[in-house]
Amino acid sequence: MTAQIIDGKKIAAETRELLAKEVALFHNETGITPHLAAILVGEDPASAVYVRNKERACAKAGMKSTLHKLPSETTEAELLEMIEQFNDDSSVHGILVQLPLPGHIEEQRVLDAVTPLKDVDCFHPENVGLLAQGRPRFQPCTPRGVQVLLEKSGIDVSGKHAVVLGRSEIVGKPMAMLLVQKGPVANATVTICHSRTANLKEVTRQADILVAAIGKPNFVTAEMVKPGAVVMDVGINSVDGKLVGDVDFDQVAPIASSITPVPGGVGPMTIAMLLDNTLTAARIAAK
Ligand code: GUN
Repeated sequence: MTAQIIDGKKIAAETRELLAKEVALFHNETGITPHLAAILVGEDPASAVYVRNKERACAKAGMKSTLHKLPSETTEAELLEMIEQFNDDSSVHGILVQLPLPGHIEEQRVLDAVTPLKDVDCFHPENVGLLAQGRPRFQPCTPRGVQVLLEKSGIDVSGKHAVVLGRSEIVGKPMAMLLVQKGPVANATVTICHSRTANLKEVTRQADILVAAIGKPNFVTAEMVKPGAVVMDVGINSVDGKLVGDVDFDQVAPIASSITPVPGGVGPMTIAMLLDNTLTAARIAAK
């Protein structure tokens, strides 16, 4: 068997085109242009690229974005002050604080300071709580991107065993919540496993759908995958200047039924979902 390669770049482009139409309609109805304010603290080169890509995508979708670059020595208090300013600014609909933040700033305190109504990353405890209860205000961007890729690829999730490898707040946990909830592209039986899971290989081998989000390059090898499984690779790791996923693609592609490549798989979907959330935030503000 050779796997169907899920083309995230193409699906993300289609999603963004649809979104651009929705943005135009919304603008016609309300006169409002959705506005994302992105904050980048420090000089991390990968973060700078991500933020630039987010800005470009906003422009293409007919949205406004503003990038607020702060030096790495910015204090937590200064960052919190900027967030407070955006919380109170009715012309800003979505606020994104690019992670990681410099070590002297406590990430959780900063993310908690973003008003839940503008929390387009879906990181605020109120939004995580709503998601856990199956009534999300915003969709967590990367997990929702995985869900849309499954949907657009015609992969049935209901009743299947989905194994999520990784328990991060950004991907693993919210991914499991989306897949287990009632509704379309969901109703799965979900297992979360991680670096401390005993007999990890036996667990991942039970997956009909395996989502790899453990942050270790080429971690998932052929012996960890059931033949015919759907493999969604969330990893973005830099190895010798080359981007590689958490899945050893060359080993796993011949035995999977469908697989996402890195780059060009899940990654492009994250930005598309961020735009979707920014439109949602603008709709909330317009009510
Ligand atoms: N850094 C890496 N991924 C993300 C993300 O999804 N959101 C934010 N804000 N920062 C990130």
